[in-house]
Amino acid sequence: MFSAGFYIGALLIIALTNLLYKWRYPRCNGVLPPGSMGWPLFGETFQFFSPNPTCDIPPFVKDRMQRFGPIFKTSLVGRPVIVSTDADLNYFIFQQEGQLFQSWYPDTFTEVFGRQNVGSLHGFMYKYLKNMVLNLFGPESLKKMLPEVEQTASRNLKLWSSLSSIDIKEATAEMIFGLTAKKLISYDAETSPENLRENFKAFIQGLISFPVDIPGTAYHKCLQGRKRAMTMMKNMLQERREKPRKVQGDFFDYVLEELRREDTILTEAIALDLMFVLLFASFETTSLALTLATKFLSDHPLVLKELTEEHEEIVKRRENPESGLTWNEYKSMKFTFQVINETVRLANIVPAIFRKAIREIKFKGYTIPAGWAVMVCPPAVHLDATRYKDPLDFNPWRWQGTDTHGASRNFMAFGGGMRFCVGTEFTKVQMAVFLHCLVTKYRLKAIEGGEILRTPGLQFPKGFHVQIYEKK
Ligand code: HEM
Ligand SMILES: *[C@@H]1O[C@H](CO)[C@@H](O)[C@H](O)[C@H]1NC(C)=O
Repeated sequence: MFSAGFYIGALLIIALTNLLYKWRYPRCNGVLPPGSMGWPLFGETFQFFSPNPTCDIPPFVKDRMQRFGPIFKTSLVGRPVIVSTDADLNYFIFQQEGQLFQSWYPDTFTEVFGRQNVGSLHGFMYKYLKNMVLNLFGPESLKKMLPEVEQTASRNLKLWSSLSSIDIKEATAEMIFGLTAKKLISYDAETSPENLRENFKAFIQGLISFPVDIPGTAYHKCLQGRKRAMTMMKNMLQERREKPRKVQGDFFDYVLEELRREDTILTEAIALDLMFVLLFASFETTSLALTLATKFLSDHPLVLKELTEEHEEIVKRRENPESGLTWNEYKSMKFTFQVINETVRLANIVPAIFRKAIREIKFKGYTIPAGWAVMVCPPAVHLDATRYKDPLDFNPWRWQGTDTHGASRNFMAFGGGMRFCVGTEFTKVQMAVFLHCLVTKYRLKAIEGGEILRTPGLQFPKGFHVQIYEKK
């Protein structure tokens, strides 16, 4: 009676229903957290990336926290994900790094960052590379670097004050890139025939884009930018190999010395991947933080006033006002550090920290199946009204008298546990020194832009254009 087409159609519907059911209700030996897996394949990826123009918790997370509670499930870029906005689970995830959880980033990230970057390396190799980085950005190196950071900030501010307006976002990115690239690979933009930063720019513009690699797409440009930057760095490394320098100092020197050892596990490919990640992690994040700090200062005259007083006081206490900043002076900038903390709390430059469950995990009655991704959501912590009163207010005074201890549960702008950001102190030095030079010698007038957009990474779509004048 019925045609073959009917049977095939019926079978297809059954198969699809079955697939959809499996998608919606993944297998689990226990109770999965509540939440929706969205559409097959896409999951809730588009909702996650949908732009929002505020400092608040991303609407994607906020809505689901209200509907499902602090721990919920979703699906992003084809992977099942448990989202954690729960302080205890966050803490547990950071503490169990390498045991129950390991670093994991979506495949598109692995593709653009290289397969062997520090984020996806584990165990021995990882610790070894981290030591190398800590060496370059540890307190001893930073102390030595202080005068250079100050001179760079002074020189740039002087130059900017001669222009009718500058985009602080672009200008600080250029400045910090220059400083970091010089430190890491002795790259000097003024004498180099090629522009390394241009390639990074192309890379960043396509970083959070739909991953279709055909000419014309942002993603394609992103991969091309990375490729060219990698070629440049490879050539620089080769050049160094042929013309070694007398004093060992930068990252290339470390790498070459290590590669010469017989028992080394380092390869040139790994070193170059790491180099790329480091350059990227350092200048983009710090320039976003500095731009937001400048914006906050221009919107909050009382904060600017107290900050200026702190820095004028430092200069006044000196025998010679022209002598450079000392490490002790840097350490004494109490209010400045409050301003920095408050800025990075609201900035949420890293809106999501990803891990993968190595084994099945039971937590607060829920089960996280092995292999699932876990996403810690720092904004949910930083903007929680029970931890920070009036969380959306920029109020550096709220940090007054905070003790270092226990703060880690409430503050994770630089991550936590074993993978805590190795650039934290470097960032603070750069921000504090820049602010010092800015408020002691210059005034700032906002001209245009400064609006933020989160996709969910922080962006300044129109930049932040300001005029900088020398104080009388
Ligand atoms: C405002 C500035 C910055 C912010 C907000 C920031 C934030 C973070 C966060 C949240 C993590 C943890 C990622 C995870 O757990 O998966 C991290 C890791 C890292 N950061 Fe930063 N960072 C900043 C600046 C820097 C700078 C200047 C450098 C380089 C000198 C740097 C190098 C790194 C590296 C190498 C890691 C990986 C550490 C590891 O996996 O053990 N960061 N950062
Ligand atoms: C900034 O935050 C960190 C981490 O919570 C904390 O250890 C430090 O004391 C804070 N600094 C100030 C000045 O409040």
